[in-house]
Amino acid sequence: MPTIVLACPKGGSGKSTSSLVLATQLALNGADVTLIDADPNKPQSRWARLPGKPDNLTIVVSTSETTIIDDIESAEHSTPFVIVDLEGTASLLVAYAISRADLVIIPTQGSQLDATEAAKAVTLIKQQEKMISKSIPHRILFTRTSPAIKPRTLAHIQEQFRKFHVASLQTHLHEREAFRAIWSFGGTLNSLDPKHVGNIDSAKANARALAAEVVKVLQQLESNKPLSQEKPHEVTV
Ligand SMILES: Nc1ncnc2c1ncn2[C@@H]1O[C@H](COP(=O)(O)OP(=O)(O)O)[C@@H](O)[C@H]1O
Ligand SMILES: [Mg+2]
Repeated sequence: MPTIVLACPKGGSGKSTSSLVLATQLALNGADVTLIDADPNKPQSRWARLPGKPDNLTIVVSTSETTIIDDIESAEHSTPFVIVDLEGTASLLVAYAISRADLVIIPTQGSQLDATEAAKAVTLIKQQEKMISKSIPHRILFTRTSPAIKPRTLAHIQEQFRKFHVASLQTHLHEREAFRAIWSFGGTLNSLDPKHVGNIDSAKANARALAAEVVKVLQQLESNKPLSQEKPHEVTV
């Protein structure tokens, strides 16, 4: 415990990258982490075959709806953090994983089309909440945003989510070469070579901020502090 599930039906929204950045950062912070690779394309397993995986980060492949709940449960018993990287579809596997989450993070890029897909993830979460009669905390994570400028479209989308009481993480996963490079070179942001990849320090600061905010959200949820006004609703972003 806790289990953090990354979900969004939109392919390319940043689920795998955000999962890996979060998992490696928590591991670099000293925590034992299991990253469950629940996407049939197995991106995390491919990354793990490259050099530099931290020893305290375990990758578990779980791509079947018949095993996902058991795999999450057994990971919860072996490491304090469990992160689940899902495929970009609305499958039974996705629904099961969401139902086991202490926090669902919904990565989305800052465009209207992407936000509409993110809203579908929120609707799926709401359905699962009804099914299990329990609230499933969730946060939007804006990905691939510019660290320098905030386009009006992004501001508009953020406002729409606020209007529908869907909370967003303050930290974005900015567009950074370093977040692409870990997939090519393996390892973590710390093991990237500054001769090959620019602006690693900014990416590191971004990853630290993301992990810190996620931990803070989990602590606040744990202590039952009301963080956001999460109400049942239909979302039409
Ligand atoms: N913050 C980021 N900065 C730069 N590239 C990114 C970032 N997030 C994702 N990408 C790139 O965008 C593409 C899709 O990201 P990915 O994490 O695979 O999305 P998903 O898992 O939702 O399909 C990949 O090529 C990835 O390298
Ligand atoms: Mg993916």
